[in-house]
Amino acid sequence: MRTATASAYSSSANLGPGFDTMGLAHDAGLTKISVEFIERSPKVELELNCGNLPTNPSENTASLAVKNVLESQGINGSFRICISNDIPLGLGLGSSGASAAAAVVAIDSLLDIGLSMDEKVNFAMLGETASSGTPHADNVAAAIYGGLVMVESTNPMKVRPLKINRKFSFLTILPHMSIPGKTRISRTLVPSEVSMSQHIWAIRHTSLMVSGFINGDRDALRAGMNDHIVETSRMQMFPFYPEIKKIALKNEAAGVCISGAGPSILVVIDGETDVESILSGAGAVLKSTGIAFSILNSNLAGGAYIPEN
Ligand code: HSE
Repeated sequence: MRTATASAYSSSANLGPGFDTMGLAHDAGLTKISVEFIERSPKVELELNCGNLPTNPSENTASLAVKNVLESQGINGSFRICISNDIPLGLGLGSSGASAAAAVVAIDSLLDIGLSMDEKVNFAMLGETASSGTPHADNVAAAIYGGLVMVESTNPMKVRPLKINRKFSFLTILPHMSIPGKTRISRTLVPSEVSMSQHIWAIRHTSLMVSGFINGDRDALRAGMNDHIVETSRMQMFPFYPEIKKIALKNEAAGVCISGAGPSILVVIDGETDVESILSGAGAVLKSTGIAFSILNSNLAGGAYIPEN
């Protein structure tokens, strides 16, 4: 039997004002997907072996991504997909996107299809709809490309990798809140229209955030990584966030945002950050709410890859 295996890292999407556009990959967690060709068959048949992930192929981001790749190539057959994931599920660290991304890289390698990077992002995004209901490419773009990315267009898919010119690393603060259907629900909270003044404010902050990363300018990043549209609309789901953000910025975090659709918080840190004070302050806030939590340290990660045996 032929098998291909691929891995993809966790990611944080949005980065404050960059809803559905900005993302970065970090090594807070890793997903590994194996796709095995079982036999020829007159249609696409997918079997899932997933631990605690959905095993219905239409509800699983990896199998939906594989199905889309196979259908686009007119390939039928019976395949087994095995998922081993250590990215915390449903907490905004891109676990579903990483599964979709690794699955696309694995099936591309197994069948020697030769998809381009942006085609891989596109198929992974289609897989991601199993989790979020609507396609968004920010997590999968980060998972496929690695590093910091901007999604320039989704039709046709076009992603711009951006270089970060400073040694930043990350704390991810993970409140252990299980909210079934969280990404779908939190996307319904986002307003469908904004005023011109909100639009101007958002452009200003997105520009600051991007320039902060690419110029290695921590002051610009601190000022830019703020959002009053999407994060504010979702705040009812994460009432602890403003206090934790205040503590992190007071202790010289280089930027703080909700990671993707939350509830995790991404804190960008560098040599000027008082990490210990952030850990104890954030811990005290979460303890006072009675929510269990964990905090992971991570670094910028590379894109989805085929691991050596
Ligand atoms: N941009 C997406 C959202 C990311 O905020 O809904 C979900 O991980």
